[in-house]
Amino acid sequence: MEEPLIFELSQPGRRAVTFPPLDVPTPPWSQMITSTLQRHQPPALPSVSEIDVVRHFTRLSQRNFSIDTHFYPLGSCTMKYNPKVSKMLISRTNYRTLHPWQPPVTCQGMLWVFAHMEELLADICGMDAFTLQPVAGAHGELTGILLAHAYHRARGRSPHKVLIPDSAHGTNPASAALGGFSVVSIPSDRRGRIDVEALKQVLDEDTALVMLTNPNTLGLFEDRVQEIAELTHRAGALLYMDGANLNALVGLTRPGDLGFDILHVNLHKTFATPHGGGGPGAGPVGVKRAIEPFLPVPRLKTQGDQLVWSEDYPQSIGKVRAFHGNALTILRAYIYLRALGREGLRTVSQRAILNANYLRVRLKPFYHLPYDEPCLHECIFSAVKQKAQGVKALDIAKRLLDLGFHPPTIYFPLIVEEALMIEPVETESKQVLDAFVNAMIAIAKEAETHPERLREAPTTTPVRRLDEVKAAREPNLRYRPPVPQQSQRANPESRNMKVL
Ligand SMILES: Cc1ncc(COP(=O)(O)O)c(C=O)c1O
Repeated sequence: MEEPLIFELSQPGRRAVTFPPLDVPTPPWSQMITSTLQRHQPPALPSVSEIDVVRHFTRLSQRNFSIDTHFYPLGSCTMKYNPKVSKMLISRTNYRTLHPWQPPVTCQGMLWVFAHMEELLADICGMDAFTLQPVAGAHGELTGILLAHAYHRARGRSPHKVLIPDSAHGTNPASAALGGFSVVSIPSDRRGRIDVEALKQVLDEDTALVMLTNPNTLGLFEDRVQEIAELTHRAGALLYMDGANLNALVGLTRPGDLGFDILHVNLHKTFATPHGGGGPGAGPVGVKRAIEPFLPVPRLKTQGDQLVWSEDYPQSIGKVRAFHGNALTILRAYIYLRALGREGLRTVSQRAILNANYLRVRLKPFYHLPYDEPCLHECIFSAVKQKAQGVKALDIAKRLLDLGFHPPTIYFPLIVEEALMIEPVETESKQVLDAFVNAMIAIAKEAETHPERLREAPTTTPVRRLDEVKAAREPNLRYRPPVPQQSQRANPESRNMKVL
């Protein structure tokens, strides 16, 4: 059944709460609010009872696909379960009520968490220093780009180019362009890795940065990374790692040891903090010693036995975010790290890789595997076999919704035709993976016998197929209330709300 908008549930005069008439004198300061600043009509809010509100939002919430209710194999997104214990801990402790302008002496606990988090991330990634300010992967990328700018400027250089493989996430070229660089796209080779020969052709003294994703978005390890690091450094450029796929590496190898100079990590992916719907995310950036002077301010330093904020870094690129990033998200990731420990984190990566390879092997007889070799945390199929039957990756994704699974990422990476990018993550059991495999096999068979069913899917969801392009290009997010009737204007309770 279609769920009406809450505005459509509105009945004149209905209220969740009613206040008694004001029985104290109007405060003197209210006289200072001139008539032009006063509200003369009641706000155009829905008039609903408390139970209307509770039922409406509960019904909507039950229509969601969420990580807490369904398997969510979104490739490149690492949609992993967020342990409830870390949420409980952050919501039940004093950390929630801290204010970023509190004197440091009153919030040493939080500052200690920040400082230790920077150390832990540096240790995991093999970097020398971290900033926790950026609040998304893309924001981390832009911070990294600005750091590269500052690094070259300090050496009296102003190279213009950033080299990025064609398998990269769209945010990589966008961040480089936003940072004022021109982007050169490097093709991938037949093995799905950056084509090192093509890279050599354009890598010169005008190159500021080479941006690699490792493992790349095909789920494959860039196995010539050390050679690429050498070539990059010889040209005077820096090597950046998009660490969005770090879930495959933690405890197994360290980007810093592979030769990367700058990287961002997505706490909202690898370190199990909320993701989707805008976060609040966190994209800390790690650097090698030579780039540390340029990190955003303020930075933490020790003064006596206290941690304090310092702005005294004259070469810093400045702030990239108000205050200190998404503090509670950082705390949540910190709890995750401490709960798992070194061994636990390694096991996470190993299981994520094992799960992806299990899906790869089980689905290979049914879907085309463009890069047929063991993968890391995600495996990329192509729906070209099904396309021959008139069924596209989009149809497969929509049919999965009918069968109770969130679809994988589709049509990305761009270099794979009809891409289906599946990242199961470590938290899923063999039973869940088997159920997903069975659904994917059923769909592959349906593509042969009843392709029209796939083209019509989804049929069991609250809404059928939406025009996603129109929704993205012409979002209609604002409720425009009908002009209020005369009788509603005269509502005595509404009149009570007139002043302030
Ligand atoms: C490989 C890769 N890089 C960068 C990003 C951007 O991260 P964010 O969405 O946190 O901005 C993503 C996001 O999915 C990604 O998959």
